[in-house]
Amino acid sequence: MRYSDDLIEEIRLKNDIVDVIGGYVKLQRKGSSHFGLCPFHNEKSPSFSVSPQKQMYYCFGCGAGGNVFTFIMEYENFTFLEALKMLAERAGVELPELEYSKEARAQADKKAQLLQINKEAAKYYYIQLRGKQAQQAMNYLTGRGLSQETIQKFGLGYSDKFGSGLYRYLKEQGYSDGLLHESGLFNADERHGMYDKFWNRVIFPIMDVNNKVIGFGGRVMGDGKPKYLNSPETKIFDKSRNLYGLNMARVSRKRNLIVCEGYMDVISMHQAGFNNAVASLGTALTSLQASLLKRYTDEVLIIYDSDEAGTKAALRAIPLLKGVGLATKVVNLNPYKDPDEFVQNEGNEAFERRLEEAENSFLYEIRISERDYDMHDPQGKTDFLHNAATKLLGFEDEIERNNYIESVARTYHIESGTLTNLVNKLALKGAGITEVRRPKSGIQSNREKESGIEKAQKLMLTWITSYPGIMEQITSYIGPEDFTTGLYHKVAEMIYEQYDQGQINPAKLLNHFVDSEEQKEVTALFNATIPLETDEERKRALTDVICNMKEHSIAYRSSHLDPTDMKGLQDLMRDKKALENWKESGIILHISFD
Ligand code: UTP
Ligand code: MN
Repeated sequence: MRYSDDLIEEIRLKNDIVDVIGGYVKLQRKGSSHFGLCPFHNEKSPSFSVSPQKQMYYCFGCGAGGNVFTFIMEYENFTFLEALKMLAERAGVELPELEYSKEARAQADKKAQLLQINKEAAKYYYIQLRGKQAQQAMNYLTGRGLSQETIQKFGLGYSDKFGSGLYRYLKEQGYSDGLLHESGLFNADERHGMYDKFWNRVIFPIMDVNNKVIGFGGRVMGDGKPKYLNSPETKIFDKSRNLYGLNMARVSRKRNLIVCEGYMDVISMHQAGFNNAVASLGTALTSLQASLLKRYTDEVLIIYDSDEAGTKAALRAIPLLKGVGLATKVVNLNPYKDPDEFVQNEGNEAFERRLEEAENSFLYEIRISERDYDMHDPQGKTDFLHNAATKLLGFEDEIERNNYIESVARTYHIESGTLTNLVNKLALKGAGITEVRRPKSGIQSNREKESGIEKAQKLMLTWITSYPGIMEQITSYIGPEDFTTGLYHKVAEMIYEQYDQGQINPAKLLNHFVDSEEQKEVTALFNATIPLETDEERKRALTDVICNMKEHSIAYRSSHLDPTDMKGLQDLMRDKKALENWKESGIILHISFD
C-alpha cells in the first residue's frame, strides 16, 4: 500500500515550494531565497528560508527543514499520506485508489467496532446516571459544584454496583467476548468470567478531537483507592496523543489553551467559562500532545497543581511545549491546590486575573532554580547567576536574548550590562557558540559540537546544491568517498549519482528519508552558512574546503584501508600527490557563484 516513487515525485514537482509555503507564511525575496518568520518557533526577525532552486525550506533559527511534503506534514500535523493527498489535490493530480491489504482492512474494521463499543458504553453509563439507583452519584457530582448543564455537556455517567451490567448490555447487542476484551472495559478471571472494569464509579468519557469516545476515566465517590481508574491503552486509545477536553477547547476561539492535570479541573474551568482548558490523561505531558496543541494555538498556559509534583511536571512540560514553538506561561494558583479548588473558592474573576498574571515560562524556570542554590550566600548567588547566564545563551535572537537578560537582571538586582558581559563571556568560551539549537522535537539532539571537518563537508554540500554549476569542476577534486561522516557520505553519493544522471535535485533526494529528524538533518547539510560576501572570498573558502576535506579523507582512508586492497592504496597515493600539488601551487577554479 504505497504510491510509486514516480507519482510522488510528480506531485512534488507540481507543487512549487514557494507557492505552497507562501500560502502559510509571508515571504520576502532576498537574493536567491525567500525569507519569512518561521512558523515552527517563535521569532521576531525572519530566519526561515525557502529556496526555489533547491525546492527546500530551512530555518536557521530552529533547524526545521525539508521539502514541500515535510512542510505540510509539520505544519498541518499530517502523515506523509495525508500531505501527499492534499498536495495531489492542490495540483490536480488524481491519486489511484490504494489497494488495502486484507490486514489493513481488518484493522480498520476493528477500530470502527471498538469505537462503536465505546459509544454504546458511554450511552449505557449516561443512562445509568439518570436512573433511580444513581442518586448518590448524581449527588456526588452536584455536590462538587457541577450544574446539570455541565454534567450533560461532558456526557458524565455512572457505573452501577452490580459489576456486570455493561457486559450484559453489550452481549445483547451481539459483540464477541474477544472484541469486548480488546475494548479494555472488562476484566476476566476464571471464577467470574468477564465482568465490568468500572464498578460504582462516576464515569468521565474521554473523547478525541472528533468527539469520538476513545476511553473512560472512573472516579470513586469519596476516598477509596485508586481515586481514578482509566481505560487501558487500546487500538483506539493512545494516551500520549490525546487530551481531555480538546474536542471542546479547540473551538473555544480563545487566544490560548490552558493545560491542567485533571478531569475535574477541566470540567470546572469550562463551567466557569474557561472553555479553552484541556488535561493530559493521567500521564505526564508528551511531545505528541505538545504537537497536537500547536495545531490549535500558539500559546499555552500551564496550570498544574501547586505541589512539588505539579512543579516537577511543569518543568518537564515547558521544554516540550517550547520545542514545538508554543509560547508558554505558568499560572500560579497559590494558596489553592488545583484550578478546580481555586475556581470553586475564588470565582471566575479572580481566576481570570491569575491567567493574566501567568509567568513567562523561562522566568519561571529561573525562579524555580533558585531552590538549588543558597541565595543568601555570595557564592551561591554567583553560581545561580552563572547558571541563569548559561540558560540565557539559549536565545539565538539577540533582541529576545537582551530582553530576557534585562528582565533577569532586574529581578535579581544586578546591572544588565554585567549580566550581558557574563553571557557573552560564556558564549565565547564555546559554551554554546556552535549552533545553539532548540530542536523542534523538544528532545535535545545529542549532537556533539560540530567538528571542523563536518563543517567543511557540510559547506561543500551546501555549495554544490546551491550552485550546481560548480559541480563540473568540483568532481575533479572531490568525490563522494571524500565525505567521511555517515549521513554526509550517503547524501553525497546520492547527489553525485543525480549529477551523473543529469540534474542535482536535493528536494527529490529528501523523499528517500522517511524519518523527520533525518530529513531535518539532511536539510541542514544543504544550508550551512559562512559569512562570505564576495566571489573572491567564496572561491578562497572553497579551495580551503577542498584541501581540508582531501586531507581528512586521506587520513581517514589510510586508517581504514584493507592492506590487501591494492587499488585503494594506489588511489590513496595518487590523492596524496595531488594534494601536495594543490597546496604548493594552489587550485585554480574558474567558477562563479550565481
Ligand atoms: P488528581 O489527584 O489531581 O485528581 O489527579 P483531580 O483531577 O484533582 O480529581 P479530584 O478533584 O480529586 O476529583 C489528576 C489526574 O490524574 C489522573 C486523572 O486523570 C486525574 O484527573 N489520576 C489521578 C489517575 O489517573 N488515577 C489516579 O488514581 C489519580
Ligand atoms: Mn481536584
